[in-house]
Amino acid sequence: MFLERMLQSQGFGSRKHCQQLIKNGAVSVEGEKIDQPKHKLDLNNLSFSVYDQHFEYREKVYIALNKPQGYECSHQATHHFSVFDFFNDVLMNRGLQCVGRLDQDTSGLLLLTDDGQFLQALTHPKKHVAKVYQMQTVDPVTEQQILQLQKGVELHNESGIFAATNVVQLAENELQMTIHQGVYHQVKRMLAAVGNKVEQLQRQQIGALTLPELEQGKWIYLNAEQVELAKTRMTT
Ligand code: URA
Repeated sequence: MFLERMLQSQGFGSRKHCQQLIKNGAVSVEGEKIDQPKHKLDLNNLSFSVYDQHFEYREKVYIALNKPQGYECSHQATHHFSVFDFFNDVLMNRGLQCVGRLDQDTSGLLLLTDDGQFLQALTHPKKHVAKVYQMQTVDPVTEQQILQLQKGVELHNESGIFAATNVVQLAENELQMTIHQGVYHQVKRMLAAVGNKVEQLQRQQIGALTLPELEQGKWIYLNAEQVELAKTRMTT
């Protein structure tokens, strides 16, 4: 691939802008300054720098963010911050999107990508990708509520039954459970349907990928193995 095209693919702007960066001497490949836009590159394990900032070539990006409360999963956040505030222009130019949504007051594992197929594979309703949530509840969790969540509840304006698996009481007012759909406010509505209320909600896992050790507001690129884990279908 030509250098100008590679830079464009990584979010450095229009072809013209990338050509200009190269001609201005801003771009080095494997430590060597290159000023020819049509310089041919081998993309395997390619690293490069633009104005001395180091980058690795990535065909697609897969990101895990430990989302804090108070951030919306939308580009035009109205009442809160946007999760996209955590990412620089180069990543945003690639068309980064959230893989599903978390409410502004939910924290935990949020995936972002520019790979439309990955996004589709994880969010399509028919794929039933498992998601594990932990929550604090307003009232103590009862045995009856756990049984109802396992059996399934109906949600207003949604068709079908919404059941949780691996429902585990962690403390008097603390519950962990796995859901297999992803309708609006699903966990909060399920808890309301059994007569309790979510006080705080955190996502711990998507597919077989658990929230990496990250401070809130920090993110990492996922490697190929972690991308596969996220797609892994859990049976329970
Ligand atoms: N269920 C909810 O109620 N909120 C979320 O953010 C995610 C799942």
